[in-house]
Amino acid sequence: MPSRLPLILLAAIPIGLAAVPLARAEAIRSPPPVLGLGIDPLPQVIAALTPEEKIDLVVGVGMSLAGLPLPPEMQGPADGPMGPRVPGAGGMTRAVPRLGIPSIVLADGPAGLRISPRREGETRSFHATAFPVATLLASSWDTALVERVGVAMGAEARDYGIDVLLAPALNIHRNPLGGRGFEYYSEDPVISGRMAAAAIRGIQSTGVAATPKHFVANEHEWNRYTIDVQVAERPLREIYLRAFEIAVREGRPQALMTSYNRLNGTYTSQNRQLIDGVLRREWGYFGVVMTDWFAGDDPVAQLRAGNDLLMPGTGVQQRVLREALARGTLKSAELDRNVAQILMLVLRSPTFLGVQTTDAPDLEGHAKLAREAAASGMVLLRNVGGVLPLPRSRRIALFGNASYDAIIGGSGSGAVAAARAVPLAEGLRASGYAVDAAVAEGYVSFIDETRRKTPPRSPLSPPQRFPERSVSAAEIESAAQRADVAVVTIGRRSGEFADLSRELDFELQAGEREMLERLSRAFRERGKNVVVVLNIGSVMETASWRGFADAILLAWQPGQEGGHAMADVLSGTIAPSGRLATTFPLRWEDVPSSKGFPGTTLLGPDPAARGILAGVDRRAEVRYDEGLAVGYRHDAPVAYPFGFGLTYTQFLHSRLRVERVADEGGVRVSATITNTGRSPGREVVQVYVSPPSGAGAGARPGRELRAFTKTPTLAPGQSMAIELQLSLRDFALFDETQRAWVVPAGMQEVSLGSAVADIRATARVEFPQALTVAKVSERL
Ligand code: BGC
Repeated sequence: MPSRLPLILLAAIPIGLAAVPLARAEAIRSPPPVLGLGIDPLPQVIAALTPEEKIDLVVGVGMSLAGLPLPPEMQGPADGPMGPRVPGAGGMTRAVPRLGIPSIVLADGPAGLRISPRREGETRSFHATAFPVATLLASSWDTALVERVGVAMGAEARDYGIDVLLAPALNIHRNPLGGRGFEYYSEDPVISGRMAAAAIRGIQSTGVAATPKHFVANEHEWNRYTIDVQVAERPLREIYLRAFEIAVREGRPQALMTSYNRLNGTYTSQNRQLIDGVLRREWGYFGVVMTDWFAGDDPVAQLRAGNDLLMPGTGVQQRVLREALARGTLKSAELDRNVAQILMLVLRSPTFLGVQTTDAPDLEGHAKLAREAAASGMVLLRNVGGVLPLPRSRRIALFGNASYDAIIGGSGSGAVAAARAVPLAEGLRASGYAVDAAVAEGYVSFIDETRRKTPPRSPLSPPQRFPERSVSAAEIESAAQRADVAVVTIGRRSGEFADLSRELDFELQAGEREMLERLSRAFRERGKNVVVVLNIGSVMETASWRGFADAILLAWQPGQEGGHAMADVLSGTIAPSGRLATTFPLRWEDVPSSKGFPGTTLLGPDPAARGILAGVDRRAEVRYDEGLAVGYRHDAPVAYPFGFGLTYTQFLHSRLRVERVADEGGVRVSATITNTGRSPGREVVQVYVSPPSGAGAGARPGRELRAFTKTPTLAPGQSMAIELQLSLRDFALFDETQRAWVVPAGMQEVSLGSAVADIRATARVEFPQALTVAKVSERL
């Protein structure tokens, strides 16, 4: 009986998908009919599947890593293909050819498509665009831009035959040392959620499914496969889950990935309250839930919790599930729910719909977008005496390894094999600056030499640290005579599999400090300036050394076109318009989560453990005791506050109006923004809400971001009106006793600002009585 069902499916899909907006799916608990046509093929397909085939569908084909044999317990099912059909992709589901159900391919990641650029037997390459990391994208505060980047990433995925992109990643910047901070947007849930929603909309507009990850509380790498995150429900709801809630409600992703960690004792991938309860019932999520790669320890619990797809899939999981089904510990009806979700994803996939792969994405067009995005998210932290923009006549002495060896993004699953990586030296030259040749020559040969001596590393290793070249006092003196300005790049690598080091990453290293001190002495003695460029993935200490710099440009890890984008901003071709989406603290110990970072070992490694669990603590715990005191929600002096960023001009905020919107009970905020300076620029307008003091149990942060917008470029003297909406939920806090989102009675302040510490206008909104906005059903 090979052909009837696929015919039903194929005939109905295009109209059916168009006819059922995802909005409707919100209300539906069990899989809705895919089609608005009165026929629903899913029950028929499910009825036609054998139990073995159903298990095949929920267990991926396994993973293959070139040159890295996996231990038997991590290998994919032996009776299927050995890894995804697109080389370098992260995974693939299994096909059921008898019923016309194809395999679909999944690939990372948040900064662009991660596939292998080389294929056996092919002479050509298969590169993707390395876009700026998420931390930079969030610093653009420009959701339209992030959506365009999503469209480009999705298009590359589709052109290379990928159905599901494993992005965006939106865990919270809880601590500066969190190893994957570069893959995440912000310390704030509203900006994280909005950015993720924009990325999802962009990616999915191409027909490729997006996969927000890692749900939830995956804020560090230490013991990531076993760690138990202990977090109280209010911060969990208001910060960590809130980001995902916004992403799911506003982005409507077709897939979602749970995290590695446990949450209050239970692996997130095995947590029914979290997946079936919060995600599906409370938020109306309707899509596939997949595990992170090799996450959790109980495949039956995963499927029963609503985690439909086990990735990358192992033969062991397949066997365990077959036994559980035979014994009845996994019910057929439970498995059918998972299968239905996977079939829904397959039905909408480019592979199923017969989309042609071209293997020829628009890499040149996307490079332009990567450059624009990079420039939009760079943040000007310091500019004493208007050193920047730098006139093109300035001869530049360019220091720092990263000026010549660009750090375009992080390693691990967030890496992208781009066709090029433009360093600052190249960007400056292309932009018309003279870059001192003697200094450049010293760096280029040092970097070549270091690379030659470095043995190749496994793709599963944490990022490589290269020593910074030490520059002699004599070299600095002679450069200061020849050049007009010193530009120094401080670089930090990021990657998966390890957290950062306080001494080597967060702090300035001794050699770097010495170089900065010497440069500042030599150049300033001659009336010349020092500009620092930060090519980093996470925030770092700046307060102790910023005095050596006249200007500091935070370039983050800006993607493959980074050098050009840095030159665009340094030269003023593009006015800096990025703002911090994560606070720069004064010292690491000022961050409340540093106290228990990264966590505590409760039971050391199992000596017999192999594969990814070798050397990993069997039980480890991290307590999010800081509660709501994450980032700017903690009131302490900082180096650069949340929302901060200089421009080459100034903006005036005027005519703030805050009006209640009668029908929905929310609030409309409007204002006029005027460029009062002498050069063009873009302003980021931020709306914060402060509840009445004493509201809610425990400390309540003074101000919380609730809405934001970015103006287009405003010419000097130009004004524009902006308008933002706040809903009742924006005034609510999570009340653990009432198990509800409640707007407390009393006066709330609505502030409009240019940074959390630069509030330009404030208005008050009164709520005469407490209002319950939404009840929740799950206790986490
Ligand atoms: C990461 C995920 C990634 C997956 C597939 C895991 O190690 O945590 O973010 O999507 O690998 O590459």
